[in-house]
Amino acid sequence: MSKQPKNLPTGFGWSQGKVAAQAHVGVPEGLFEEEHARNGFFGRTSHLYHRHPPTGWLRIEGETRPRAYAVTKLDGEDNGQPKNFLENSDCRLGISKISETMKVFARNIDGDEIRFIHEGSGILQTDYGDLVYRKGDYLVIPRGTTYRFLSQTQDTHLVIESASEVELPDRGMLGRHAQFDPMLIRVPELPAEARTDGKNSAGEYELHIKRDRKWTKVFYPFNPIDIAGWKGELTPWAINVDQIKPVTSPGYHLPPSVHTTFVMKNFVVCSFLPRPLESEPGAMKVPFYHRNIDFDEVLFYHSGNFFSREGISAGSVTFHPTGIHHGPHPNAAKNAENLTRTEEVAVMIDARNPLYPTTAASSVEFKEYAMSWRLDQKR
Ligand SMILES: [Fe+2]
Repeated sequence: MSKQPKNLPTGFGWSQGKVAAQAHVGVPEGLFEEEHARNGFFGRTSHLYHRHPPTGWLRIEGETRPRAYAVTKLDGEDNGQPKNFLENSDCRLGISKISETMKVFARNIDGDEIRFIHEGSGILQTDYGDLVYRKGDYLVIPRGTTYRFLSQTQDTHLVIESASEVELPDRGMLGRHAQFDPMLIRVPELPAEARTDGKNSAGEYELHIKRDRKWTKVFYPFNPIDIAGWKGELTPWAINVDQIKPVTSPGYHLPPSVHTTFVMKNFVVCSFLPRPLESEPGAMKVPFYHRNIDFDEVLFYHSGNFFSREGISAGSVTFHPTGIHHGPHPNAAKNAENLTRTEEVAVMIDARNPLYPTTAASSVEFKEYAMSWRLDQKR
């Protein structure tokens, strides 16, 4: 919940000119609603009714612009680790590709990892046992866990590295079993026998430890994942997006906070999942215009029809930094008029501190993305 500044009274507002009585419902004809809101649309808010779509710029000069990247074209690193495309000191976002059993064991001391399985399936071997994974899984690997992926296919993972511990959101009025029942969380199972596979070509077991982005290699005469038993509350775990039940309202476009899946220090991860669209007359079906104020916004498109981002396909990322507007493409709003559902699956990362694109990101950037709203208008 947002903290209100002490020097301003709360619980009231002002209204001037043409407005909608209920936000996101019955926007006055010919006007474009923007939500100008603090704290990720969860804090103090005003609605502005523009005479033009605020994304109708002629051009942008400078660094702050909406961006899009074909991130799944990135190769990843050889040891199953990601090639990062956006990062700051709280989180690093990257793509990892794994096509077979990892040749080495890995341990990440820089942060917890959330791996979203965009493509692939297999077994994640860890100190805590084996976790079978499949497409659409979120895998949460606590900082310092030793692991190795045994991929059965060509894997593509969206890797979200968090400097702070991965936690679940407070479900508030939705109750403890909303979005997903905690009993659906999967944890690893210890194999019946000790493993002896996983040697490198020299006949040794090779463990790569990442600390402060630098790798240290440790060599063992035995498989370093050699746990005979464990107990406690810290463990890798998994949940699939098809087990997460989105929250919707027929009459009102709910803020993105209702889609929050993980909460970390200075960033959140949200899941946009197949769901019925708003059905009552006048209710907006596509996201309102906004200039993010407190969070940089990253969306990874996993599958489905991304009607609010025409031209973006599965495996793409959009990056909307704070300060500059975005919202539905004009065609997207029209396309949504007769839709009753969305089948999209997308992962959103909202970061409180600025994210910076890496050199790798610029190699897969759609340079024309910032002008795509204007292109729509001309059609
Ligand atoms: Fe947004």
